[in-house]
Amino acid sequence: MSVELNKVYHRDCFELLREVEDKSADLVVLDPNYQDWDDLIAKGLVEESLRVLKPTGNILLFTKKPYDFNLRNKINPFFRNELIWKYKKNGNWYSTRMPIYTYQKIYWCCHEGFFYNQQTGIPREGEEEQAMLESERDGQFIGYREDEPLYSSGHYRGGQFLKDFLDIPRKRENGTIPTKPTELCQILIRCFSPVGGLVIDPFMGGGNVVLTAMREQRRFVGCDLDASCVQFASEKIKTQ
Ligand SMILES: C[S@@+](CC[C@H](N)C(=O)[O-])C[C@H]1O[C@@H](n2cnc3c(N)ncnc32)[C@H](O)[C@@H]1O
Repeated sequence: MSVELNKVYHRDCFELLREVEDKSADLVVLDPNYQDWDDLIAKGLVEESLRVLKPTGNILLFTKKPYDFNLRNKINPFFRNELIWKYKKNGNWYSTRMPIYTYQKIYWCCHEGFFYNQQTGIPREGEEEQAMLESERDGQFIGYREDEPLYSSGHYRGGQFLKDFLDIPRKRENGTIPTKPTELCQILIRCFSPVGGLVIDPFMGGGNVVLTAMREQRRFVGCDLDASCVQFASEKIKTQ
């Protein structure tokens, strides 16, 4: 690896990825400006991300309507699932021509044999009781695995199970409003990368993904074209 780990760089995404060894990354997070997706696909971003990915690694790709269509087709052979992240609670936005945007999509891509930690480690009040209510009718289990025991408190020891709908509004955290809230970053890092694994964020913006990766005992490397983002993230890394 010619790039030093646990650092962030003022670089283009391709310049950074080129310096990463084949099959070395546990998690690649791709969160570009969404209108750039078609251009990045044409330049080979998906292939380059797959090159650096371990056989057990995962790629999470952020997108939203209408930029998701070509991307979804492009990643189809490696597509496993998608998460919906609802980032807006209410706000004072209005729209007279179409529904107000409240969510982004996170596509999950991987090879066979991928790492997946199904539990986020984050408790949620009432979660267990609600799951019991939803999985039983007249005392009978109505979930999809009738051979499995009913949900029990034992199932929840690792925290809530990851769901495909994440209602985590952006909010102020220590004086700033991160583009990606810390709770969302924690969930993605815990569920899609092992402790000690390498997380790569080539469009890191304010850097909350790499900062959270560091706090969650993962190795990381990030970059951004915007020098002020890199400076902001570097300072946070130094003071954590
Ligand atoms: C949607 S923002 C990422 C937000 C980030 N995930 C966060 O949590 O703050 C996209 C970022 O990609 C950066 N960017 C755009 N084109 C790039 C490129 N070719 N290489 C690296 N970074 C790029 C932009 O400067 C911007 O900060």
